[in-house]
Order: sequence, then structure tokens, then C-alpha cells
Amino acid sequence: MLKIQLCLLALLLGLAIAEETRKSYKGYKVYLLTLETQAQLDFLNRMNDDLLTKDLAGEVELWTERNQLTKALPQTVNMMVSPREDKEFLRLINGQTIQHKVEIPDLSVLLEEESYISPSDQRVISEGGMTWTAYHRYSTIERFLETLATNYSAIVEKSTLGKSYEGRNLYLMKIGKPRADGKTKPAVWMDAQIHAREWIACATVTYMMNKLVTEYGLNETVTRMVDQIDWYVLPVINVDGYEFTHTNERLNRLTRQINPFSSRIGADPNRNYDHKWMLQGATQQAGTEIYAGPFPFSEPENLHLTEAVLQRRNQIKTLLTFHSAVQMWLLPWGYDLIYPDDYQDLMQMGVRATDALTAVYGTRYAVGSSTELLGAAAGATDDWGKAKAGVKYSVTVELRNPRGFGAPSTASSFILPPEQIIPSGLETFEAIRVVGEIVYQEFGPTLN
Ligand SMILES: *[C@@H]1O[C@H](CO)[C@@H](O)[C@H](O)[C@H]1NC(C)=O
Ligand SMILES: *[C@@H]1O[C@H](CO)[C@@H](O)[C@H](O)[C@H]1NC(C)=O
Ligand SMILES: [Zn+2]
Repeated sequence: MLKIQLCLLALLLGLAIAEETRKSYKGYKVYLLTLETQAQLDFLNRMNDDLLTKDLAGEVELWTERNQLTKALPQTVNMMVSPREDKEFLRLINGQTIQHKVEIPDLSVLLEEESYISPSDQRVISEGGMTWTAYHRYSTIERFLETLATNYSAIVEKSTLGKSYEGRNLYLMKIGKPRADGKTKPAVWMDAQIHAREWIACATVTYMMNKLVTEYGLNETVTRMVDQIDWYVLPVINVDGYEFTHTNERLNRLTRQINPFSSRIGADPNRNYDHKWMLQGATQQAGTEIYAGPFPFSEPENLHLTEAVLQRRNQIKTLLTFHSAVQMWLLPWGYDLIYPDDYQDLMQMGVRATDALTAVYGTRYAVGSSTELLGAAAGATDDWGKAKAGVKYSVTVELRNPRGFGAPSTASSFILPPEQIIPSGLETFEAIRVVGEIVYQEFGPTLN
């Protein structure tokens, strides 16, 4: 009896600890601000710079992909504000007569809806399966990758790239039917979840992997894609950050590496690549949203990615790195407003791919230079892919925003109800189908 009570006590304590480490967003609001004058824009820019230096991370945050405002006026922008900072925030905003309204009165309500897992999903997960009607922990994704590799060994190869900072395995999946003559096929690289909180990214990518594998031999289009192209997929790159969003802070974007001269943890891995590192749109303020890390490739996960791409650099003709959520197909260069010589080809692929995507549910995408559309951000995956690995089509794909085209990317746009995973997977699949077709046409069936 005593033993049972002790067990129960231990269980309760365990639960209490788990509850305590998970950040509650209870009462956190998301405001929509409308900036109409240059003075208001300047003010908000100063305020954002200020937030980076003060220890207000997680309390008051501008939630955009680039963590910066554009120059456009008028401009709407979202800010997340904790209950503790609400009064002071309103005082500052009202002082500048900035128009504002509360768009989300309580972020925690949204998060509860997002994390709902139905009994039927629960059952599939407990039996070692995977679903696309809920978001999953890394262990579930790992088992899914293992199942794909063992059940479909004729077209799937799984390899381990190395370990994350906290010691989790990073996997690379290759989906492709080997040619009978043994010759090398052109390949498309896809990676996801470099920003930890953008959950729809790995959900979409694993959905597409599953479709490629399970419909091979059944669906003519899918069969052709797998026959003609090798698809390399790294479904979760910032795996430590991703797990942290499940266990502690849902809206964390960064890695989990300890910083040498700061108590703040993590860097923005999408500022950590070594092409024009720190040139623009990145900071050396440790632990902030666009902290580029102490030096290029300080984050081991990035290094594993580069090694895997470089080993296959002659084969990989397109690199797609998946983010959310501003519905954009972003092209190099991202370090400055400079266009590569073959920009027209890149644009053409982007327009064709996103037209196919839009045809499914009407989800609209902007296509163009990353710097032009979002502002400069040096040290990102796509610039590295083009400059250092020589991948012609190197693209950042920003997946759907739950509030539609042109809505600001904010805390809440990273929170898509799980019902949107399959639609996102289906529409994005059309885009990669077109990418595969273009790569096949341009580079031919074999490379050697
Ligand atoms: C994989 O194969 C095992 C053993 O044959 C089977 O039980 C399981 O349902 C398969 N899973 C999938 C997703 O195909
Ligand atoms: C095969 O897959 C493609 C790509 O998603 C889709 O457009 C098509 O409708 C599918 N065909 C069948 C017969 O299901
Ligand atoms: Zn991102």
C-alpha cells in the first residue's frame, strides 16, 4: 500500500514538474498595430532594438520572419505582449498614437487547440505509427522514418548525419528508385524545422515523404517523381529547439546551445551559415531572435547539413528549405539586394511551382528576392546552398499563414490548427512536383 502511495506521489511530482517547466502563455495578447507615419515606424524600430538589448525576450516580441520591420507605410504588424508588460506597452504605443487592436486576447487558448490529439491519433501513435492530424514529438517522427526505410527499402534509404548539440540523431532520408543502369539521377534536397516553432514545416515535409513512398507504384505522377528524381530529405534539422517547443516554450525559434558569454541559450541557425555571415539582418546579441551565433557554423546541426549537401553537390540541383508562415517563395540573395545572374530561371521555377500550389486551394504566394520581399538576412541556408554548394535553385519556402496572404507572420501564424497539415501537404506537394519536372527537364535523366 505504502509502495503504491509512493509511486503515486512520484507520478504527481513528475507531472507537477513537467507542468512547471512548460511556459504558460496565459493572458499573453497579440496586438495588431497599424503604422501610418514615418515617426511611428521609427519609434517601433527603436522599440524593437531596445527589446533586443533589454531582457524582455519572451515578454514583448515582434513576431516576423526577419524580426524587423519593412520600410512600407502604412504597415500592419503584430506584437506579442505578456500580461506583466501590457500596461507599459500600451503607455508607449498610446504615446505615439499608434492604432492598435487586440487580435488574440489569450494565446494559451490557441495553443490548447493546437496541441489536441484525438483518441484515434493517440492509438496510432501508441502503436508506433504517424498521423497528419496532430503535431508530433521527435520520437514519433524517428519511428516513422525507421518504418519508411524498413517497409519500403526498394525506394527509401535512411542514414544518420550525426548528432545535435544535445545528442539527438539527425537523419537524412533518400527517396528514389535507383536506376537499373546504376547511373546517377538529378536530386532535390528538402529540409525543414530550422526554426523550431514553425511546426507546419516538418509536418508538411513528412506528409510529402509519406505520399511519395506510399503512392509509389499506385499513382502515376508520384511514380514518375520517384523514378526520375532522388529526393533527399532532412525533416527536422533544429531538433533540440523543436523538442524544446514541445516541452518548454512553444514559441522558441532558436537552437539550444549554451552561449559562451551569456546566460541566454541558443542562436538563430538561419543566420549561422558562412556566406556573408553577419553582413546584415543579424546580431551578436546572444540569445536574441536573430543572433547569428558566436561564429559561422557554431551550431553543429548546420554543419551536419552542409556536409551532407556537399557530399552530393554534383547531384543536388534544387534545395528547398521549409519555413512558415508568410506564403513566399524566396530566392537568393538574402544578404543584400543583389540578384544572381540566373535569377530569371529561379523566378520561372518559383512562379510555375507556386501556380501549381495555388491551383489546389487558392493559397497565394509571393515569389521573388528574399531581400526585396522581407529585408536582408545574411547567413541563411538558401544563400549558402547557392554560393557554397553551387546548387542552382536554392530556395526558402515560407508555408501557409492561417490568416492568409499578406497577413503578418506572427506568433499566431506559427500556430496552425492540425486540420491544416494535410491541406498544406497536398498543396505543397504540387509545388515539388513541378520542381521535379523542371529539374528533370533541365538536367536530364542522368548526370554521368
Ligand atoms: C510496416 O511493416 C510492418 C510489418 O510488415 C507492418 O506491421 C506495418 O503496418 C507497416 N507500416 C506501414 C506504415 O506500412
Ligand atoms: C496522384 O497524385 C497527384 C499529385 O498529388 C494528384 O494530383 C493526382 O490526383 C493523384 N492521382 C490519383 C489517381 O489519385
Ligand atoms: Zn523561419
